[in-house]
Amino acid sequence: MTELELLRERCLSCEKCQLCATRTNVVFGVGNPESRVMFIGEGPGEQEDLKGEPFVGRAGKLLDLMLDAVGLSREKDIYIANIVKCRPPKNRDPLPEEQEQCINWLREQTAIIRPKIIVCLGRIAAAKIIKPDIRITKEHGQFIERNGVLMMAMLHPAALLRNPNQKPEAFEDFLRLRDKIKELNGEQ
Ligand code: URA
Repeated sequence: MTELELLRERCLSCEKCQLCATRTNVVFGVGNPESRVMFIGEGPGEQEDLKGEPFVGRAGKLLDLMLDAVGLSREKDIYIANIVKCRPPKNRDPLPEEQEQCINWLREQTAIIRPKIIVCLGRIAAAKIIKPDIRITKEHGQFIERNGVLMMAMLHPAALLRNPNQKPEAFEDFLRLRDKIKELNGEQ
């Protein structure tokens, strides 16, 4: 077993917070662990809880479309995980203490994957990873560097489903991400 598979095994039996009582599945993460790009969402919704995979509902379909539009695939080019690994009941925001209990799994995932770029989907992930007072509507699409890792917040695809008029600016961020990946690969 790889280090990441071992971590996943441990995570699947986690009972550190109350969300374990209502979950169907732990949603650990998917994608290419060798990839240099990690996407981080907030937490599983209903479909994710049922399947044990992140971003498989409507928001996930939109994410896949936007990735595809800039030539990226979730299987080959990125790894995706969430701040909390279990679904908050009725899709409420994960509580600060749930995030705090869960974040070590993500820290360990990140230490194994060692991404060069971290994309935070939505305010909750961006506030936890980039800065607590982030104004996502203003600051999405901006890269900041921390300890040699580039980080960017993006609008959450579920927010784009509610506000389709924001799709063009969200797409700009995907283009920026594509260009940054090319730059890191020495293609630009
Ligand atoms: N929203 C998220 O933030 N994560 C998922 O896995 C699904 C929806």
